[in-house]
Amino acid sequence: MRVDSMKKRVFIIVLDSFGVGELPDAAEWNDEGSNTLGAVRGHEDFFCPTMTKLGLFNIDGVGGGIRKPMGTFAKLSEVSKGKDSTIGHWELGGILSPEPLPTYPEGFPPEIIEEFERQTGRKVLANKPYSGTDVIRDFGREHVKTGALIVYTSADSVFQIAAHEDVVPVEELYRYCEIARKILVGKHGVARVIARPFTGEWPYTRTANRHDFSLEPPKETMNDRLKSAGYDVISVGKIYDLFGGRGFTEFTRTKNNVNGMEVTLEIEERDFCGLCFTNLVDFDMTYGHRNDIAGYAKALSVFDRQLAVFLEKMRPDDLLIVTADHGCDPATPSTDHSREYVPMLLFGKHVREGLNLHTRGSFSDVCATVLAYFGVEKGETAGTSFLQEALSDAAFLPEDAPDDRTLYRLALEAREKAYTPYSHYRVGAALLTAEGRVYTGCNIENAAYTPTVCAERTAFFKAVSEGERRFAKIAIAGGREGEISSFCAPCGVCRQVMAEFCDEDFILVLGGLDEVREYRLSEILPEMFTKKEL
Ligand code: THU
Repeated sequence: MRVDSMKKRVFIIVLDSFGVGELPDAAEWNDEGSNTLGAVRGHEDFFCPTMTKLGLFNIDGVGGGIRKPMGTFAKLSEVSKGKDSTIGHWELGGILSPEPLPTYPEGFPPEIIEEFERQTGRKVLANKPYSGTDVIRDFGREHVKTGALIVYTSADSVFQIAAHEDVVPVEELYRYCEIARKILVGKHGVARVIARPFTGEWPYTRTANRHDFSLEPPKETMNDRLKSAGYDVISVGKIYDLFGGRGFTEFTRTKNNVNGMEVTLEIEERDFCGLCFTNLVDFDMTYGHRNDIAGYAKALSVFDRQLAVFLEKMRPDDLLIVTADHGCDPATPSTDHSREYVPMLLFGKHVREGLNLHTRGSFSDVCATVLAYFGVEKGETAGTSFLQEALSDAAFLPEDAPDDRTLYRLALEAREKAYTPYSHYRVGAALLTAEGRVYTGCNIENAAYTPTVCAERTAFFKAVSEGERRFAKIAIAGGREGEISSFCAPCGVCRQVMAEFCDEDFILVLGGLDEVREYRLSEILPEMFTKKEL
């Protein structure tokens, strides 16, 4: 592939809970009609021009799209039988979960509790769903008196252990959590075991020593495969915990969304090669679960501004994927997650403009696409890559295809043959096909003037008449006799010929002897009329 493999970087930004409408099986989850984006987009504080430009509203079923989105976009279906963050992220990472993670509305079964008591040598109190502050108020005194551990759960897949720091030192509590973590596997594989230490006198206060012990994914993930292939795998926010800490070369926890994006922007400035995987949890934790429509809308607008800064700083071999892990519609009475499609916005220099990939089979298509970009085998991971469709031909040029300077030099050479007895304006062009072949051309004038053919069209017609149909780039060099212009722009007719054979992302290598720059065809011929119209 043409993109420089040493410089390839992918940024996945997960907007936690940012669904774009109910999945076909939403009724089975009591989520009929849920639409997280739908709930916030009408709010007066919702202003997301950047995501709009990337194609957010062009996604099938979302409505209100713009005419010329800059990126490739789709909505992704969740295949896994779960709607929590862990299962959603695992699916993004290539694991389909046939069962939801277990929850315990009646408390944990005796076989779990007895084994936990045996291994810790301590009895268990409570063992039911409870609020964290209520449970220490109701059971704290008995715990302090007897040393028995307070075990409780919630509506989520969690096993929480509360203990007074003077009765059970924090390190010992963490050891008990590790014991529980080892017991809670297989069908009892809860998402998280959480240490909940508290201190002081009744009714007690919780300390900052909370610690989560998350479940390792049951199979190899995208992160594992990238890491073993030698790439950097950087976690920002709770990604690291959602994958049980496995498959990363580096991780940074974050304070909130704004901080998560600040960290991502700092990483963007650095040289690395691999994946930066960011989760922005406030959308879910602070706004979705609290049914705070205004807060959600504002947070999206703030993110959108930071995203604009991110786009400015992207490098030629970067890919950006903005997506989500489930929904959490703040407008429905439910404060729980909702079973929704998630958006997928793909952007980068080689990414096709305005390509609608419609509805994709699974979140795991993200995994397959990322692995394909790095040329890493998918192994056991799920998903179907959309890389081939989503990147322009220029991204797939063979390694030995000429670079821009070389192509420009070939255009200069072709200019030597220009036949210009009337204008003395001499132009050369070098056209590069998707397979890496080069066709050159020069301008050929005529005493009757109108039969004159420009250099670009000579190159195109030579190539087309040889059967070529897929083109990646053209370099153009020209100027008055004895001079080379610092920028030789193709004429309108040549642009129109390019529009006939090339997509919006066809690249023009323009400039002079000192400097050449790449332009997209869509930049130099906006709003073009093409065969798509007919
Ligand atoms: N010319 C080109 O070869 N390419 C362009 O796109 C601009 C114009 C040639 C045509 C003619 O021979 C001379 O420049 C002056 O118009």
